[in-house]
Amino acid sequence: MSARNSQRSYGRIARLFHWATAALILIAIPLGLVANRLPYDTAQQLALKAQVFSVHKTLGVVVFFVALGRILWTLFEAHPVPLHPDRRLELWLARLVHWMLYISLVAVPLTGWVHHAAVTGFAPIWWPFGQGLPFVPQSEAVAATAGAAHWVFTKLMIGSILLHVAGALKHHVVDRDDTLRRMTRGINAPAMPVLARRSPLPLLTAVALFGLGAAVAAMPRGEPVTQAIATPTVPAAGNWQVSEGTLGLAVTQMGQQVSGSFANWTADITFDEVATNGTNGSVTVSIDTGSLTLGSVTSQAKSADFFDVTAFPQAIFTADILPAATGYEATGTLALRGTAVPVTLPFTLVIDGDIATMTGQASLDRRDFGMGATYTDEASVGFGVTVDVALTATRQ
Ligand code: HEM
Ligand code: HEM
Repeated sequence: MSARNSQRSYGRIARLFHWATAALILIAIPLGLVANRLPYDTAQQLALKAQVFSVHKTLGVVVFFVALGRILWTLFEAHPVPLHPDRRLELWLARLVHWMLYISLVAVPLTGWVHHAAVTGFAPIWWPFGQGLPFVPQSEAVAATAGAAHWVFTKLMIGSILLHVAGALKHHVVDRDDTLRRMTRGINAPAMPVLARRSPLPLLTAVALFGLGAAVAAMPRGEPVTQAIATPTVPAAGNWQVSEGTLGLAVTQMGQQVSGSFANWTADITFDEVATNGTNGSVTVSIDTGSLTLGSVTSQAKSADFFDVTAFPQAIFTADILPAATGYEATGTLALRGTAVPVTLPFTLVIDGDIATMTGQASLDRRDFGMGATYTDEASVGFGVTVDVALTATRQ
C-alpha cells in the first residue's frame, strides 16, 4: 500500500487526511448546533455554553489548518478515476459535491474565525496566539456578516456531506463497487479508462453556490448597528458643551478582557479653572443603558442579571469637580439599577482657549450594584469594571 495516490487507489496520506477531516467535522458540526441552542439563563448554563463553544472553535481552527494541508497535498496528487465514467450525471454530481466540500473546508472555519475575531468576549479559542486575526477589525457589522456567512456555509456543508455520504453508500450497497473500499482500505479498484477532459462546470457551480450563500449572508439585516463612538444626543446645560466623546467600559469575561461603550449619553458640565470653596464645578452625566454594546455579550450585559435596561433604562452620575494631585476628580454618586454608590473619577484636563479635552478612568465593582448576583466568582465575569471617559467640550 503506497503513501501516494494512483489512478486506481487512494494512498495512505490522502486517506489519513480524508478521515481525519471527516472525523473532526462530524464532531464540530453537532458541537456548533448544540452550543448555539444551549440556554444561558444561569451562570452555570452560561459557563457550559461557553465551554462547548470553546471546544467547537478550537476544533474548527484545527480543521482549518488540516484542511489547508489536505488541499495542498491534493494539488500534487493523482485522482483515482471514476469507476462508472459512463454515468455522466452521477459523475457531475459527485464532482460538484467534492468541490463544495473542499470550499466549505476553508470557508466554514474561516467565517467562524472572522466572526470570533471581530468581537471581544464570550468563549475564547483555546490556544496561545491571541483571539484576534490580522486585517479583521473589531466591528459588530463584520462580526454579524461573518456570523451569517458561517451559518449559511455550514448549511451548504451539511447538505454536501449528506449527498456525499449517500453517494458513497449507494456505490457500496447498490453498485457494489470499490469506491468506498478504496477510500477506507486503500485497495486498488479495477483499472478504468482515464477521462480525456475534466469539465470545469462542477467547480463553477460550487463557486456560484457559495457566492450566492455569501450574498445572502451580506444582505442587510433589520437591526441597525449601534455606533460605538457617539456624540451626546441632547444639548446640555452648564457652561461647557460636549462636542464629542466616548463612555467606555471593560470587564474580564472567561479570562479575556471585553470592552464596549454606551452610544447615547449626555453631560451637563459646569466648570471653572478657579476653584470656589474648594470646588471647580459640577457634572451630571445621564446614560441611556440600552445603548450599550459590549462585544459578543451585549445581550447578556443588558439582561436583568446585569444592567437590566428594561427596568432601569437610565444611569445617572452626579459629582462635584475637585482639584486632585494629578488634575481633577469628579466625586459623587452613580445611580445604577436603583442603587446609588459613591464613585470617584480622577481625570486629566487640557484647556486650549475655549476647548477642553478630558480623559479619566474609574474602577467599579459590579457587586456594589447587585449586578450578576448569580455569578458569585470571577470565573465567568470579573468583579471589577473599568470605566473610561474621554471627551472634548467647548466653553459656552
Ligand atoms: C469546519 C469547522 C467548523 C464547522 C463544521 C462549524 C459548524 C458550525 C455549526 C453547524 C454551527 C451552528 C449553526 C446553527 O446554529 O445552525 C456553528 C456555529 C458557530 N460557530 Fe462554527 N464551525 C466550524 C468552525 C468554527 C470556528 C473556527 C469558529 C470560531 C473560531 C466557529 C464559531 C462559531 C460560532 C461563534 C457559532 C455561533 C454563530 C452564531 O452566533 O450564530 N466555528 N458552527
Ligand atoms: C462518513 C462520512 C464519509 C464517507 C463514507 C466518505 C466517503 C468518501 C469516499 C468513498 C470518497 C472517494 C470517492 C471517489 O473515489 O470518487 C470520498 C472522497 C472525498 N471525500 Fe469523503 N466521506 C465522508 C465524509 C467526508 C467529509 C465530512 C468530507 C469533508 C467535509 C469529505 C470530503 C471528501 C472529498 C473532498 C473527497 C474527494 C477526494 C478527492 O479529491 O479525490 N468526506 N469520500
